[in-house]
Amino acid sequence: MGSVVQLKKQITNAYTDLVNSVDEKLSLVEDKISYKLDSKVELVKEMTAYHMTSGGKRLRALLTLECAKLCGYTKGSRDVNLAACVELIHAATLMHDDVIDSADLRRGKKTTNKIWGNQSSILVGDYLLSRCFEMMVEDGSIEVLKLLSSTSSTIAQGEVLQLQHKGDSEMLEDTYLNIISSKTAALFSASSKVGSIITDKDNKFKDALEFYGKNLGLTFQIADDTLDYNSELKMFGKEIGKDFFEGKVTLPIILLHQKLSSDEKLVLKKIFEQNIRSKEQFDYVLTLVKKYNIINECYKKAEHYISLASNSLSIFQDCEEKTILKNLTSFSINRKF
Ligand code: IPE
Ligand code: IPE
Ligand code: MG
Ligand code: MG
Repeated sequence: MGSVVQLKKQITNAYTDLVNSVDEKLSLVEDKISYKLDSKVELVKEMTAYHMTSGGKRLRALLTLECAKLCGYTKGSRDVNLAACVELIHAATLMHDDVIDSADLRRGKKTTNKIWGNQSSILVGDYLLSRCFEMMVEDGSIEVLKLLSSTSSTIAQGEVLQLQHKGDSEMLEDTYLNIISSKTAALFSASSKVGSIITDKDNKFKDALEFYGKNLGLTFQIADDTLDYNSELKMFGKEIGKDFFEGKVTLPIILLHQKLSSDEKLVLKKIFEQNIRSKEQFDYVLTLVKKYNIINECYKKAEHYISLASNSLSIFQDCEEKTILKNLTSFSINRKF
């Protein structure tokens, strides 16, 4: 029992330790973002302020700051500017994503599309992205510009690929990995790597952080997708079953499909082919998820990416920053917020 409590504490601490480690810089990131988002158009100001202060974890910005610190970046404010950039890419992506997913709730609050509608949310999402590009240009490094602009196009392609496979209960695990590598892991990877690009560390360290971020991102999205079918664990600020009702096929459904009998496969296919799905159908799928122990299977898959992320840090000398990033891998899978 004692060790379980200990583990829980360690997981929550992983995020708190990360925040504490770069606390002052994170405040500068917040200042930079609000300064950069100022606009003469009142609605733009109102919507961006609402979205940016609705309580995100700032994980991507934190990754940039911590990876820069790990690589010895001390002088200058490029880490702060680039942390603001990756957070803006994330914020824009979420605004667009909530339109695509018709989401009503994010971070426990109404989404911007719920309050102001789809049209303004798409436009303000574009505004966030454009401001981010201005900041990237201000940084002046072509390498940074290349990395972050290609990441932005990778995310968009991941979202489109996912849309293309909507309702496809026979989707391959490989396709799923492709989707989440693009829509989520690419930004985690770039956020980590960009922190090292601004230092004179050897390329092998930059590559290690790129790989760390990618695997952390995969774990993070797998955990998010698994929670959507885990009726016992309600995630803060999100509705359970959202992916199912949208017809979005994620890891739990893919692993379930691999275990089902032919008859059950047919039922699942029919359920996902429909335009709308009922609460009864969700309950039926949840019983199958339980019957075949799918939640456990998903976490087992995620463990693999946790190990990859964790092991990639081994080339760094032991230090506080390395420990914090290592512990963050457990947070990414066990988080409840
Ligand atoms: C949400 O990311 C989108 C996913 C990749 C699942 P976060 O959970 O990092 O979002 P916020 O910014 O902290 O709300
Ligand atoms: C996360 O996708 C958004 C991106 C990474 C583009 P989801 O649609 O799965 O995430 P939530 O559940 O809305 O946060
Ligand atoms: Mg969504
Ligand atoms: Mg989505």
